[in-house]
Amino acid sequence: MCSCREGAHCAEMAMVCLTDFEEYAKEHLSKATWDYYAAGADECCTRDDNLLAYKRIRLRPRILRDVSLSDTRTTVQGTEISFPVGIAPTAFHCLAWHEGETATARATEALNTCYITSTYATCSVEEIVAAAPNGYRWFQLYVYRDRKLSEQLVHRVEALGYKALVLTVDVPYTGKRRDDIRNQFKLPPHLKVKNFEGIFEQEATVPEEYGIPANTLDPSISWKDVYWLQSITRLPVIIKGILTKEDAELAVEHGVQGIIVSNHGGRQLDGGPASIDALAEIVDTVQGRIEVYLDGGIRTGSDVLKALALGARCVFIGRPAVWGLAYKGEEGLKEVLQILNDEFRLSMALSGCRNVAEINRNLIQFSKL
Ligand code: FNR
Repeated sequence: MCSCREGAHCAEMAMVCLTDFEEYAKEHLSKATWDYYAAGADECCTRDDNLLAYKRIRLRPRILRDVSLSDTRTTVQGTEISFPVGIAPTAFHCLAWHEGETATARATEALNTCYITSTYATCSVEEIVAAAPNGYRWFQLYVYRDRKLSEQLVHRVEALGYKALVLTVDVPYTGKRRDDIRNQFKLPPHLKVKNFEGIFEQEATVPEEYGIPANTLDPSISWKDVYWLQSITRLPVIIKGILTKEDAELAVEHGVQGIIVSNHGGRQLDGGPASIDALAEIVDTVQGRIEVYLDGGIRTGSDVLKALALGARCVFIGRPAVWGLAYKGEEGLKEVLQILNDEFRLSMALSGCRNVAEINRNLIQFSKL
């Protein structure tokens, strides 16, 4: 018996691939919510290229390699996860499912992978940790004009056992997302950016942008703020939103512990590269000095394989996680992760890889790029 929100009216759908969840979400979420999740900046060229770029990459499978046993485990920042796919930070999970981020936390704990909690969560970090006390989590952070705000969050998540800080650096200003402007997107009154509850309430007259007062983010953020962040935390710092070898080198020089190659799902600068296209130059520059991760456009197990072959240690999914929540909350997200895990395992086997250590650039057909 199906446990989705349709109850007795729902003929159980066979969810076979991640786009099945996308279709379900599109059909069942309100237009404004769907548009918010789907949005890219401006003409959405980069958002769309994030997916198309994987389709341009061809694999060079190896055969007769006894793939009867396969092992998808890996480590990130020294911690073992069950397969190299985690959850990218996305805002407002309560828009997709009433339990919001607590459902995300439980699903990722159950599947033993990494959940990067967004600052813009609609459950508090305390609620998230209470829902899944043994989950492996990183916390995504922005730098606010009022540094105390960021600082308080850092201390809260450190005390709660978050294992790394993910500093998102591609949002000095919010990208122009046309549908959100047309829809005058706003969080419904019953939902809040829970981590800031009480903090902004006295400023109710200030115009709001995505649940907090507009102009709260600091556009003057620069590399020296990375040093500032390191000075107030003992957690590893991972920078999210790097797309060039120059910035990758600077990240290493600034002593961070990881990079997430990302264009924010195409929601910020339109016209930048697909994240998978930016990966190789960054991996070549970093030369293994720190871990390099990637997000953007991962929809199948072979996308995961291609990203690992090009040097990503692990990838993260943004929108597909939200589609899973929209389908059936915790169970829906577990299904999304399980499907991706199964597809990844199969792609590995069909290309002759028995474990993630065997995935390397020889798998990529560069002549076709
Ligand atoms: C995001 N992303 C994002 N990133 C971040 O650092 N903090 C955030 O709060 C959010 N919020 C957010 C909301 C929504 C609805 C989306 C779609 C994306 C970006 C996210 O972490 C990630 O970079 C992309 O979502 C990856 O692309 P895919 O997997 O959605 O194609």
